[in-house]
Amino acid sequence: MAFGTFSNLTAGNSQHSKTATPQATNPVAPPPQQPAHLQTPITQQTARHVPPQAPLQAPANSPAPVQHTPAQQAHPAPVQERRARDQPENRLLGHVIAVDGGYATLVASAINPSADSTGFWTIGRLISISVGNSRIVGLVYKIETAQDTWSQKSHNAMKVQIELVGEISQSPQGQLSFSRGINVYPPLGSIAHNIRAGDLAVIHNPIDRQTAIIGSLSQDESIPAVVCIDDMIKRHFAIVGSTGTGKSTTVSLLMRKIIEARPNLRILILDPHNEYASAFKDESVTISTDTLELPFWLFQQEEFCEVVFRDRDGVEEEIDCLRDLIPQAKQRFAKKIQQPSSLLKSSGPNQTITADTPVPYRMSDLLALMEEEIGCLDAAHNRLVLKSLKNRLESLIADPRYRFMFSQRTVEDNMEKVIANIFRVPINNRPITTFQLTGIPSEVVNSVVAVLSRMAFDLAVWSKGKCEVLVMCEEAHRYVPHDHRQGFGPTRRALARIAKEGRKYGAYLGIVTQRPGELDPTILSQCSTVFAMRLSNDGDQDIIRSAIPDSSASTMSFLSSIGNREAIAFGEGIATPMRMKFSTLPTQHIPGSRENEDSQGLPINGDQISLSSIIDGMRNIHTRK
Ligand SMILES: Nc1ncnc2c1ncn2[C@@H]1O[C@H](COP(=O)(O)OP(=O)(O)OP(=O)(O)O)[C@@H](O)[C@H]1O
Ligand SMILES: [Mg+2]
Repeated sequence: MAFGTFSNLTAGNSQHSKTATPQATNPVAPPPQQPAHLQTPITQQTARHVPPQAPLQAPANSPAPVQHTPAQQAHPAPVQERRARDQPENRLLGHVIAVDGGYATLVASAINPSADSTGFWTIGRLISISVGNSRIVGLVYKIETAQDTWSQKSHNAMKVQIELVGEISQSPQGQLSFSRGINVYPPLGSIAHNIRAGDLAVIHNPIDRQTAIIGSLSQDESIPAVVCIDDMIKRHFAIVGSTGTGKSTTVSLLMRKIIEARPNLRILILDPHNEYASAFKDESVTISTDTLELPFWLFQQEEFCEVVFRDRDGVEEEIDCLRDLIPQAKQRFAKKIQQPSSLLKSSGPNQTITADTPVPYRMSDLLALMEEEIGCLDAAHNRLVLKSLKNRLESLIADPRYRFMFSQRTVEDNMEKVIANIFRVPINNRPITTFQLTGIPSEVVNSVVAVLSRMAFDLAVWSKGKCEVLVMCEEAHRYVPHDHRQGFGPTRRALARIAKEGRKYGAYLGIVTQRPGELDPTILSQCSTVFAMRLSNDGDQDIIRSAIPDSSASTMSFLSSIGNREAIAFGEGIATPMRMKFSTLPTQHIPGSRENEDSQGLPINGDQISLSSIIDGMRNIHTRK
C-alpha cells in the first residue's frame, strides 16, 4: 500500500477531520496538462540525479517472514532509483519558495489523484531536494491549494509544507549515508522530487545497527521497517493507540522478534485480558488464578495492607498492629522450624526482620499473636482494633479468591520456587510468562502487579544483570495513572523504578496503553522508543506530540488518520521517525485468537453456553490443578 493512499487517509479521517488533506476531499480529478515552465528543466534535473549505484547492505538479522523486496538486498535494481518510465515525468515535483529553520514551503501542481496515489503529494511522504552533492530529505506534513479552490479541468497550484529531517550524502565510492539535521539549506527555487527507493532504504535501515524487520514503510512497501531490538528494550518502549488499532498484536510481533534476538531475556507479560497465552503457546508458561501461588509473606507491608484494607480510611491503628506483629510472627516461624530461611542465613544472625523482609511466616502465628495480645492485660494495642483486624484477616483467608495468597502450600519458604516459576529460571525454552490478571480480585490486582514488578527489578539487581527481565505492562494507565491520587503507590513506584533505574541492571519496561493522556507522563518520558498507532483523542495526540523530539513534531500531525496496524515509530530503536505498517501475523499468533479453542486446539461451539461455569467464574470458584 502506498504511503498515505486516499483509501487509508479517508478511512482514518472519517471521524477526525483535523488532519484531512485537500486530496481527501477532492477525490478524483482528470489529469491536467502540466504547465510548460515545469517540464523542461525538471526532466533535465531528473536526469542529472541518477547516482552511481551504491551497494546497500541487507539488515543484519533479517528473518524471512516479510516478503520484502529488494531494496534491502545487496544491489537495488537501477530502475528503483528513478521514477518509473510510464509515470508522467513531473507529477511529484515542487519548487522551494520559503525556508524557515527546520521547515520549508514548496509550490507544486496538483494533478489527477487516481486510485493509485503513489507518487503524489500526500501527508507523511518523504521527498528529497538535491543540493550540491547531497540530498535534503523532507517530510510532508501539510498540503493546501494556493487559491482555496479546485479545478477539475486545469492545473491546480498547491503549497506543500515540509519538515527538513536530514540529509543523504554519498561518499566518493558511491556509498550512501543518512544523517539527521541539515548542513546546507536548499536555496529558493531548488527542486523537490519523489525520494529514491535507495535513499529510503538507507534512511530507515542504517547498516551499523543490529536490526529486526517488523513491517514495511507505508510509503514504500518494498522497504522493510526495522527496529534495533537492543536499543528498543534497553531504554524501554511504549505502544500507544486507540482500541482495535493492533496494539496487542504488535506486542506479540515484537516479543517474537525480541526472543529471537535475545534468547536469554525473560519476558513477563501482565495480561489483563488473558489473551496472550494463546499467542505464545510454545514460547510461554501461563500463570492464572488456577496455578498462581504468591505467598502473602512476599507482599511488603504497604502491598499487604492494600489487599487487607483496600484504601479504607480510619484503619491506621490496625496497620500499626500489623507492622508490629508481622516481624514477631516471622521470628516465631524462623525459631519453630529451627532452620532460618536462606535469606536469614545469608544475612547473618543479626539481620533485622521488618514487616517488609520477604521471609515466611504463618498466618496462624500472626493470628495467635493477636489472640495472645487480646487476652493480655497490658496489651500494646487496642483490643477492639486487634479484634477487627483479626476478623478481617480470617475472612480473607476463608475467601476462595485469595487462595493464591493463603493456601497451605504458601507457608513454607518457597520463594525460590515462586521466582523460578514466574521468572523462568531456568528458561527451559519458554522465556515468556503470561500472567493472567483476569480472575484475580480487582482490588488485589494492583498489589500483585506491585509485587511482580518489584521482584522483577530485584531479580535483575541481585543476579547482577544475569537475569534480564522485560516487564510488558498492558493497560499501563491503570497502574501508573496521571492523577497521583489514583492508582496504588507501591505499583507506581515499582514500575517507575524499572523505568528510571532498570536499564543499569537489566530490568526493562514495555508499556501499552489506549490512553496516553491518562498515563503518568514521567513513565512515558522514560520510554525512548514509541510506536504511536492511531489516536482519536486530541489530548492523547498532544501527549505523544510533546513526547517526541521537536524536529519530528510534524510527523505526529497525521496521528489521527493512520490505518489499523500502522504506526508512527520514533525514538532510540528507530533510525528516523517513520510511518510504517506492521507485518501480518498468522492467526495463531494474534492475541486472543485462540480463545474459542479447547485445550486440544479444537474449536468450541460458540452457541454452547455452560451457565454453571459462568456462575463458577462469577463466584470465583476455580478448579486448582
Ligand atoms: N499485525 C497484524 N497482523 C494481522 N492482524 C492484525 C495485525 N494487527 C492487528 N490485526 C487485527 O486487528 C485486530 C485487533 O488488534 P488488537 O487486538 O491487537 O488491537 P488492540 O489495539 O490491542 O485493541 P484493544 O485496545 O481493544 O486491546 C486483531 O484481532 C487482528 O485481527
Ligand atoms: Mg489489546
